[in-house]
Amino acid sequence: MNAADQMIARGIARRLLPWFRRHRRDLPWRRTTDPYAIWISEAMLQQTQVATVIPYYERFMGRFPTVQALAAAGLDDVLRMWSGLGYYARGRNLHAAAKAVVDNFGGELPSDVASLRTLPGVGAYTAGAVASIAFGKRAAVVDGNVARVIARLFAIREDVREPGTRRRIWELAEAMLPSRACGDFNQALMELGATVCTPSGPACLVCPLRNGCRANLLGATDVIPPAAVRAAVRAEVHVVVAMECGGLWLFVRRPEDGLWGGLWELPSALAEPGNERTIAGQLARRLSGAAVSISPNAFVRLEQQLTHRRITFVGFTCRSKSRRKIENGQWRSLNKVDDLGFSRAMRRVLDGLRAAVEGKRARVASA
Ligand code: ADE
Repeated sequence: MNAADQMIARGIARRLLPWFRRHRRDLPWRRTTDPYAIWISEAMLQQTQVATVIPYYERFMGRFPTVQALAAAGLDDVLRMWSGLGYYARGRNLHAAAKAVVDNFGGELPSDVASLRTLPGVGAYTAGAVASIAFGKRAAVVDGNVARVIARLFAIREDVREPGTRRRIWELAEAMLPSRACGDFNQALMELGATVCTPSGPACLVCPLRNGCRANLLGATDVIPPAAVRAAVRAEVHVVVAMECGGLWLFVRRPEDGLWGGLWELPSALAEPGNERTIAGQLARRLSGAAVSISPNAFVRLEQQLTHRRITFVGFTCRSKSRRKIENGQWRSLNKVDDLGFSRAMRRVLDGLRAAVEGKRARVASA
């Protein structure tokens, strides 16, 4: 790092900390000093916006108020509380990490970055956030917001996701750390990125760092950092088979790894546009172990947008003669599944199924 960068880095906390004390948002995880609560909040905030996280955080903390409570819970229970938040590996990892805290750290979250990083799902970001915010350690934190702020302050024009650039940004984040109040400082950087130094149209006029910001002085905040090359969005078709026998429906649990890992669903399979019903028929036969006929028409057709995929769900119903026992499967009443964790997409499919079943009942009743 050159001397000019060092100079800029050292001067930042002095201007940023007073700004944060005046402008910090009142957020539930800022009212606690409990390291466990702060860890949960950071795990949720990693890929999800503050407004979305708040109700999930409140419910999760209500259900699992301590690391012991989380460690003692069943995975299904944890995933159910995570249901709808996305990136479910975070929920699975939190559960595994809580067990590790109980087994390996006497039930107390460790306070140093190296020990925190031994926990499942805890990377440089979460370890730095917990160490600094909960324990006051002098540890840096770089998330997407912080990387953008630093790229602008130092006029870094390279792609911030390149390993070399990332390393440089982490070094700068470390050089910027004040000797005290590192937790506040890190949150201030994140807050500045979220509320002032936004990706497009940053509010430089009200920024406490505008005088030392190279991108602002160059009039180049619109090209620094360079816009991300977006990964292509893939279109997929997933068929869903709603299999019923005597008023109960077959639910299965998805494999732990991969999309929606560990969550429950009506059995589904990847299809191609045009062959949905064929694939659904094959899936239904495999599940029931016998010939079954599936509905001629889909009971639901809906789209769910994920970060890198746009998935069209096409659901068919079918009636099975018996309730075959299926590994990782359960036969359930449609109205008694609140204890299972579903993705947001599957909840919409289930809403469609309930509406179709209700509609059919009403038609039969009025006939
Ligand atoms: N994003 C990540 N961590 C955060 C925090 N502690 N407060 C607000 N936004 C955040």
